[in-house]
Amino acid sequence: MKTSHQIQESFEEYLQGLDYSHQPDNLYAPIRYVLSLGGKRIRPTFLIMAYNMYADDTERVFSTAAGMEIFHNFTLLHDDLMDRADMRRGKPTVHKKWNENTAILSGDGMLVLAYRYLVQFPGRDLQKVFHLANKTFTEIMEGQQYDMEFETRDDVTEEEYIEMIRLKTSVLLAACVQMGAILGGASESDSKLLYEFGEKIGLAFQLQDDLLDVYGDPAVFGKKIGGDILCNKKTYLYINTYRLADQSQRAELDRWAEYHGDNPDSKIAGVRAIYDAVGVKALSEKLIGSLFDEAMVKLDSVNLPADRKSLLREYAGSLLNRVL
Ligand code: IPE
Ligand code: IPE
Ligand code: MG
Ligand code: MG
Ligand code: MG
Repeated sequence: MKTSHQIQESFEEYLQGLDYSHQPDNLYAPIRYVLSLGGKRIRPTFLIMAYNMYADDTERVFSTAAGMEIFHNFTLLHDDLMDRADMRRGKPTVHKKWNENTAILSGDGMLVLAYRYLVQFPGRDLQKVFHLANKTFTEIMEGQQYDMEFETRDDVTEEEYIEMIRLKTSVLLAACVQMGAILGGASESDSKLLYEFGEKIGLAFQLQDDLLDVYGDPAVFGKKIGGDILCNKKTYLYINTYRLADQSQRAELDRWAEYHGDNPDSKIAGVRAIYDAVGVKALSEKLIGSLFDEAMVKLDSVNLPADRKSLLREYAGSLLNRVL
């Protein structure tokens, strides 16, 4: 079996070998730009690793993995527009480097491109690939819509938040793991368990992303810190801080929610100080840990010898900084 590192490397080589040079260049240059900036390639790596648990000829699913990664990158172009984000992977976002309409249209181009690679899967399982992709992509849009709507609501519950991140983030990770497993020939019950594994990892992954949005190192994170606070995103951190806050802290959070002044850093620092005061970081880390443990229980139940599952276990652990 191949390690996550080997898979990532050979997939990256495949992805960079694909050619998107057509006219007009202002449509294709942003696509080349975003796909050349790296990123962790988590989704294709999961897909290929899951396939590799059942089959050896991993290159057979590279085009499918590319389809899923290109779809993910399409969502990022539009997400950065929706989230007013200027920086990704340490570089200016497409709507900043070009303009908003370019980000919309190049994003659309990537969606079509994603399907172009998905459709290449040889064999009878193509229909299954399409069914899972269509279901997943629809759910992501639903999640993104909730994410936006929550910005202007002040009564979002933790339960609603978890469902929103399940839709916008988890289902794509879960679908990648499941797709790899199905194409590798996994049984129905294993492929379901692996979907659930991906779902738990995805929730933990988005919780961690939200945590890094407040506490991360921008040089490593590649995105500006505090973007979620500026957008009034209803994250686990925000919802639980509000719940734990005393009256004066709540009033302060309410004031910051209405802030539209010219010193955004003061809002980020002000809200983060209240997060720190109630100790919400530890609470979020605890939930990440228990979701990871739940994911491991799902993986343990998959009907394969432990040594065929250990690489996936280690890879998931490395993504969430877990000591196994
Ligand atoms: C960013 O995904 C969007 C989220 C779901 C948090 P990644 O953190 O996987 O981004 P890249 O592809 O590695 O840049
Ligand atoms: C990303 O959520 C979800 C999708 C792109 C579908 P975020 O908005 O938190 O992702 P980042 O932080 O911009 O990467
Ligand atoms: Mg977003
Ligand atoms: Mg965003
Ligand atoms: Mg984020």
